[in-house]
Amino acid sequence: MKIEGSVALVTGANRGLGRSFAAELLDRGAAKVYAAARRPETVDLPGVVPLALDITDPASIRAAAEHARDVTLLINNAGVSTGSSILGGTLDDIRLEMETHYFGTLATAREFAPILGRNGGGAILNVLSVLAWVAISPQVAAYSAAKAAALQLTNALRLELKEQGTLVTALHVGYMDTGMAAGVTAPKIAPAKVAALALEGVEQGSFEVIADDVSRHVRSQLSADLTDLYPQLAS
Ligand SMILES: NC(=O)c1ccc[n+]([C@@H]2O[C@H](COP(=O)([O-])OP(=O)(O)OC[C@H]3O[C@@H](n4cnc5c(N)ncnc54)[C@H](OP(=O)(O)O)[C@@H]3O)[C@@H](O)[C@H]2O)c1
Repeated sequence: MKIEGSVALVTGANRGLGRSFAAELLDRGAAKVYAAARRPETVDLPGVVPLALDITDPASIRAAAEHARDVTLLINNAGVSTGSSILGGTLDDIRLEMETHYFGTLATAREFAPILGRNGGGAILNVLSVLAWVAISPQVAAYSAAKAAALQLTNALRLELKEQGTLVTALHVGYMDTGMAAGVTAPKIAPAKVAALALEGVEQGSFEVIADDVSRHVRSQLSADLTDLYPQLAS
């Protein structure tokens, strides 16, 4: 789909990758950009339309959808990282990851899918991660499980929305230079670059956008022996 002239809604658009998406959409000539955020008063990008949206609150999603009936591109970007391991983290934190990445993305997609259909099909871009494919360490275990659930949601959604002509694109990326990865010292890709690559993928009708070398490497190893993906198991 063409970004120029589109009406986009980005969740979690007040900071991080979401803010970069909103800026890139404006640069590429989107007709309107709803910058959705839990606290819309924190949206500071000129030219966007701030919109209240907490993706874990069904009433909030319904209200946003009633307001933004003209959306043609939904970017499910909002996310959290609690740093919880499967055994060491609290169940509340592990549930928050699942409520946000899986149920929040699902509920938002369900609410906006009919709107996209009425507006000609459009597209949904789900922000996933390289960690949807691997759980590299205990610190990202709950996050990986939630992103894996969001990946299968994305795959299923793509099939269910094919008939109404809605493209569903999965975005995979490793560490990005945002608040979420503030404590990470490993190389990080700039969120503006990721937003540009992802929107190019949507324009080209891609089902999947792989934004960095780490994600490309893991993707290429998915059919390998598990000890290749998890070398710590080999010793
Ligand atoms: N940073 C990385 O290394 C990395 C790598 C791969 C994938 N990702 C994914 O990229 C996406 C963007 O993350 P980021 O790096 O930009 O992180 P970030 O800077 O921490 O931003 C997260 C955004 O999500 C919003 N959010 C969290 N829970 C929400 C909810 N229930 N409803 C609505 N908005 C909510 C936050 O809003 P508040 O300001 O209200 O908290 C914030 O705008 C996420 O899906 C993340 O999992 C990040």
